[in-house]
Amino acid sequence: MTTILGIESTAHTFGIGIVKNRKILANVRDMYVTEKGGIIPIESAKHHAKISHELYKKALEVSGIKEKEIDAIAFSQGPGLAPCLIEGIKFAKEISLKLKKPLVGVNHCVAHIEIGKTTGAKDPVMLYASGANTQVIAYASGKYRVFGETLDIGVGNFIDNFARYSGIGFPGGPAIEKLAKNGKNFIELPYKVKGMDITLSGILTNLKQKVESKKYPIEDLAYSLQETVFSMLVETAERALAHTGKNELLLGGGVACNSRLQEMCKIMCKERTSSFSGSSKSQTKERGAKFFCPERSLLVDNGSMIAFLGEIMFKSKSNVFSVEQIENADIHPTDRTDDIEVNWKC
Ligand code: ATP
Ligand code: FE2
Repeated sequence: MTTILGIESTAHTFGIGIVKNRKILANVRDMYVTEKGGIIPIESAKHHAKISHELYKKALEVSGIKEKEIDAIAFSQGPGLAPCLIEGIKFAKEISLKLKKPLVGVNHCVAHIEIGKTTGAKDPVMLYASGANTQVIAYASGKYRVFGETLDIGVGNFIDNFARYSGIGFPGGPAIEKLAKNGKNFIELPYKVKGMDITLSGILTNLKQKVESKKYPIEDLAYSLQETVFSMLVETAERALAHTGKNELLLGGGVACNSRLQEMCKIMCKERTSSFSGSSKSQTKERGAKFFCPERSLLVDNGSMIAFLGEIMFKSKSNVFSVEQIENADIHPTDRTDDIEVNWKC
């Protein structure tokens, strides 16, 4: 029996999760939000410091776990905003010293991938669409390799930036999704795919110019933004499926909450499968694709994904710091998904 406490603090969300033998017992979170403007890192860090003890208590209550049952404390080591990561590691060290239990440093992006496997996906291509990151990832030879990614900004930050420009607060994604449902006319926008990479800043400039011109209803712009940019994501994901020969697509990250993006991924997987239906059974299996997407509470930033990967890493003695070595544990604000050695069984 292994019980892990997980702490998430990379950006806007402070979250605590408790996982026992891969089962999520608690997943509590609180998000720094603004009515106007984006994240101010120092303010978000202050939010985390203020809420941490309350959430810790709540997580213990929800899970029914006693402090003495906790075997290790996993924390988001990076990537993320340094002031926010510092609050997370400070709190993790405090609990580690209090309970005299080791720390496990967890990569936030890899945690988004691993928690996705609770859906039943085994060896997927992952479309990781979140605030700061937009990547098409698949496991190969000891690492999660990035096959394609945004060359400038993440899709969530892109949507948030457009929303902010249009006078909508943070986070913009859910509001844009609502507006898009009432969009009637598709407005052509630049479409920027290069192989398995995309760029978004040119589309953002174009959208801002359209807002300035006051010629287009915001609903139509939101609708066209989603149709265009999500098509770009789905195109790169399909190319990665074809390139790697894998037959599972896993959608993850906060933008994956968007029901239109989920729908478009489903359609692609379905069409990919049916376009090979005339082929032999084994060919269809090889070339078709099954779609997986975790529930919302596991898509957005959360502590249970940190605890979940923390348990796997603790068991494989990967990046574990004993109480005596606690001073060696530090934050890694710029780590990439493919920097991480995956020395556990995938
Ligand atoms: P990263 O994982 O790259 O560090 P992050 O931690 O900021 O980024 P997440 O919490 O995974 O990101 O996702 C937050 C993003 O998801 C925000 O940009 C938000 O606007 C977006 N988002 C949330 N819900 C929706 C939605 N329904 N439609 C589109 N975007 C959404
Ligand atoms: Fe995230």
